[in-house]
Amino acid sequence: MRHHFGAILSCGLVFASVLAAGQQPTLKDAYNGCFVVGAALNPAQFTGRDAKEAAIIKAQFNAISPENVLKWEVIHPQPNSYNFGPADQYVDFGQQNHMFILGHTLVWHSQTPKWVFQDDKGNPVSRKVLLKRMQDHIKTVVGRYKGRINSWDVVNEVVDEDGTLRQSPWMKIIGPDYIEKAFEYAHKADPKAQLNYNDYNLENEAKRKGALQLVRKLKAKGVPITGVGLQDHVSLDWPTADQLNTTIDEFGKLGVKVMITELDVDVLPSPFQDPTADVSVKVASNPKYNPYPNGLPETVQQQITNRWAELFRIYSSHCGLVTRVTLWGVSDKDSWKNNWPIRGRTNYPLLFDRESEPKPAVKAVIEAAPKKPS
Ligand code: G3I
Repeated sequence: MRHHFGAILSCGLVFASVLAAGQQPTLKDAYNGCFVVGAALNPAQFTGRDAKEAAIIKAQFNAISPENVLKWEVIHPQPNSYNFGPADQYVDFGQQNHMFILGHTLVWHSQTPKWVFQDDKGNPVSRKVLLKRMQDHIKTVVGRYKGRINSWDVVNEVVDEDGTLRQSPWMKIIGPDYIEKAFEYAHKADPKAQLNYNDYNLENEAKRKGALQLVRKLKAKGVPITGVGLQDHVSLDWPTADQLNTTIDEFGKLGVKVMITELDVDVLPSPFQDPTADVSVKVASNPKYNPYPNGLPETVQQQITNRWAELFRIYSSHCGLVTRVTLWGVSDKDSWKNNWPIRGRTNYPLLFDRESEPKPAVKAVIEAAPKKPS
């Protein structure tokens, strides 16, 4: 059964009471009882330097993810040197505002310094050495935020498009069990934290099948995985409602929670045949791929609004199974989508515009929340 009646009732009641009080409902209130609504933050936001967006985040969201400050290259740039300052500020911001706090990410093929995989001479390290480095990193970082970071993306983007395990340095040096080891080390460092596998394009069948098989195996072995993150860097027409519903249902059947972890909606023409979120891919600049440098035509704005409402209707039809929907940023001005896969484009992927003002999609998403059954 997709709907969770209690959650819907609670959503509807909150929504109705906010309307009765004559206030503008917020994103987090509209989905209260269904899932938390989150945003990925940059340092300007969580230090308050971007005061306008800090205020939006406090008002609209009840979960936060660190867009970059907890990645290995930022927090652990040299073998014996950790840079905890920005991550400490991020966690403080979340605690002060009573938010659900994410840790992103512990083990990833990207944004991991070369030294991690190499010895002093630049040769690949042994399995034993790499496991020890991974264990030390996880123990140190998860341990520091024990009881404060609620949920970790333990492994990120470990499955390839064809459903096989990605041939990352982790995989090549340690072997496929690096994944279960990462979960075990994270669980040991904070036994109460939620522990997730996070990936993009899981709505595509081949990749989804591989990911389902991976999660099934981990669960069968008793590995402490609690959730799967669907990144959902989507476009206006991909993935379809069917792809989204099937993906959420199939992971749900394995007994893990599902989270939408990096939602944004790309409206620019893609230079690729297939969707991707692989940050290493870059394409040369070409004006035909940047059609809206001075603003969006009304028809496209309307398409975006409809798409956001559709996505939230789909996610909230899985209340209770989908526990969080996080947007990969707050306003269009800061989104990675302006610079990927082509640098310097004007993209419109988030709910707030370049002046950090709400787009029509904010109201549409709020109105798409489940109402009290009559
Ligand atoms: O902070 C440095 C700055 O000091 C330096 O001068 C500048 C020069 O390039 O770089 C700045 O760092 C950049 C960082 O974003 C902060 O802006 C990095 O180069 C750049 O690679 C980094 O991009 C991030 C990307 O992951 C790679 O880590 C994006 O902001 C971030 O949105 C993106 O997020 C990923 C998720 O973690 C995983 N899933 C896909 C998603 C989108 O690619």
